[in-house]
Amino acid sequence: MENFTAYNPTQLHFGKNVIEKLPDALQNTGKNILLISGQGSVKKYGYYDQVVQKLKEAGKNIIEFSGIKPNPVVNDAEKAVKLAQKNQVDAIVGLGGGSVIDTAKMVNMAYANNLPVWKIMKREVQPVKKIPLFVVLTLAATGTEMNGAAVLQNHRTQEKIGYFSPLMYPDVSFLDPTYTLSVPKNQTINGIIDLIAHSLEAFFSGGVAPLSDRFVAANILETFDYAPALLNDLKNYDLRARMMWTATIAENGTTMHGRATAGDWGTHSLAHHISLLWDTPHGQTLSVMFPAWMKAMHPKIESRLQQLGYLLTGKHIKPDETISIFEEFFDKIGAPIRFEQLGLNAQDKQKLLNLWLKNKPSGMNVTLDEKDYHKIISYL
Ligand code: NZQ
Ligand code: ZN
Repeated sequence: MENFTAYNPTQLHFGKNVIEKLPDALQNTGKNILLISGQGSVKKYGYYDQVVQKLKEAGKNIIEFSGIKPNPVVNDAEKAVKLAQKNQVDAIVGLGGGSVIDTAKMVNMAYANNLPVWKIMKREVQPVKKIPLFVVLTLAATGTEMNGAAVLQNHRTQEKIGYFSPLMYPDVSFLDPTYTLSVPKNQTINGIIDLIAHSLEAFFSGGVAPLSDRFVAANILETFDYAPALLNDLKNYDLRARMMWTATIAENGTTMHGRATAGDWGTHSLAHHISLLWDTPHGQTLSVMFPAWMKAMHPKIESRLQQLGYLLTGKHIKPDETISIFEEFFDKIGAPIRFEQLGLNAQDKQKLLNLWLKNKPSGMNVTLDEKDYHKIISYL
């Protein structure tokens, strides 16, 4: 096992009506709150009203920035920073899914340090402070509610990249599975894929970390267990709760301790280019990319595929059979597993390849070169 530092400062409230705890959590923050949300679902389903009521109970002034789009863009984050500056906000509340929360994290860094968002993300400048960040999550998928990561895209530079800082862990997160009962089936499928993909990114890191491997397998097996039932019963609180917690665990550090790299993330980097080019939902890019990556990288990850197969089935299965477990599961739950199922064609594959050749996405453990890109494209 490699040396590691376990660190997760986020206080997370989980369960029915946890929003009741919001006023207490805000007690020691200033008056002006920047409330960031997406394109309207939180208003449609009543979560916005509940949060606003709690903010008012706490005696806060609300400065609102809404309209964050899925696959969030750096320009919106910059606009929100301007609003924060104009109103001298004291804290940020992010209300929504990963796109909203990631934007809230970057707005926090840029505002608190008076730095441009994209320069921070490109690591040209380094933030050193933050203001308090509170998260009310409405979608189980990314794990952003309990980690220090954010992902934004920039159409000017043709990049979608992640940024991590210990300053970006939310101070307090509120996870009420009731808030996810309204998530439509396709978006629920996307969330299931994303949390499995995060578990796999952890598994394909370097180093030997058997307990972390078992956490990965447990999280995946738990997901295989509830997912089919949930997709037939979207309003089931207990199944939604199981999904919400697996999504958090998949990317809050639990699966990473003792590894040589904090995840591989090659598949995510490759898949982000599909979102960048065609605005494809994050989950769908991953159900297409992960099987292709595993097939193409088979020689480099053969023993890991065998180990994962054993942890998942208790049997010594072949690496190909491990890959099939995921491909068949994604297919069974109605996720796309081939590039064409995203409504894209051979010309689009070439566009994707060209962008990979320009941006050179790679993994932290399984590094990728030009030959690999061609191989992965052939399996898409
Ligand atoms: O915009 P609104 O109207 O809110 O609608 C959203 C959006 O259309 C809707 N939605 C959210 N909560 C809902 C709901 N609809 C009904 N009921 C609810 N309760 O769902 C749609 C998707 O929302 P989004 O926030 O985009 O989804 P997700 O949470 O999957 O976030 C995806 C983004 O997170 C990034 C992805 O790359 C992508 O940009 N990631 C962030 C990570 C992190 N910070 O750790 C890691 C991940 O690997 C990922 O890269
Ligand atoms: Zn992801």
